[in-house]
Amino acid sequence: MSKGEGVQRMFDAIASRYDLMNRVMTLGQDQRWRRVVVASAAAPMEGAILDLATGTGDIAALFAATRPKAAVVGGDFSLKMLEQARRRFSGLPISWHACDANNLPFAADTFTAVTFGYLLRNVDDTARVLGEVHRVLRPGGRVVCLDTTPPGNHPLTPLVRLYLRFGIPLLGRLLADDKAAYAYLTGSTMAFHDADTLAGYFRAAGFTKVGYRKFMFGTIAVHWGEKALV
Ligand SMILES: C[S@@+](CC[C@H](N)C(=O)[O-])C[C@H]1O[C@@H](n2cnc3c(N)ncnc32)[C@H](O)[C@@H]1O
Repeated sequence: MSKGEGVQRMFDAIASRYDLMNRVMTLGQDQRWRRVVVASAAAPMEGAILDLATGTGDIAALFAATRPKAAVVGGDFSLKMLEQARRRFSGLPISWHACDANNLPFAADTFTAVTFGYLLRNVDDTARVLGEVHRVLRPGGRVVCLDTTPPGNHPLTPLVRLYLRFGIPLLGRLLADDKAAYAYLTGSTMAFHDADTLAGYFRAAGFTKVGYRKFMFGTIAVHWGEKALV
């Protein structure tokens, strides 16, 4: 069975409490990582930018606020998350699109940058989604991915594992009234590709200049790459 339908239903259900939960769970660091994503994308001031899996729209909003002449698109397959994004950022010129990362409804070579926060952990086929992202990027355009990553050998790893296993589902129950959704976050993080393996997927999809940086005791990674100029 594919993950898509369950993931879509889960995000529809937690949409109204998603932002609060994010701030608390990350000890207020989540916006900082999104700013790293926007800086790493190094998107030009004009042209089209896609923030995929935009959710409640934070990354798209950072682009729109810093690049008023760019055409910023926020795409997601959860209509309830997009509803929150539209409501939160009604003053910004962002075009919100319902779309599935497995089959992007955009022409090849459209975007100068494509970003996505916490998408890949939720899809069945990393290679397919990265292939789609590569297709819609212009040559020379950059991809930036923010996601959780399984904790490695950091000295605080035992504590981090306890937090992931018990702390996050508890916060999910208390703040979002949905323990299962946040137990899923922990499970999908532990089962996700480690950062080196994920970098390999980016290279296999055709990206060059691939790199990554980790945050939050090694539990968050930002990966980047570029579509080669032909
Ligand atoms: C954890 S939220 C992240 C939202 C936002 N990027 C952020 O930084 O907070 C993950 C989002 O990915 C979306 N998503 C998951 N799989 C998707 C897919 N195949 N196509 C489009 N959106 C997807 C979900 O609907 C959800 O809004």
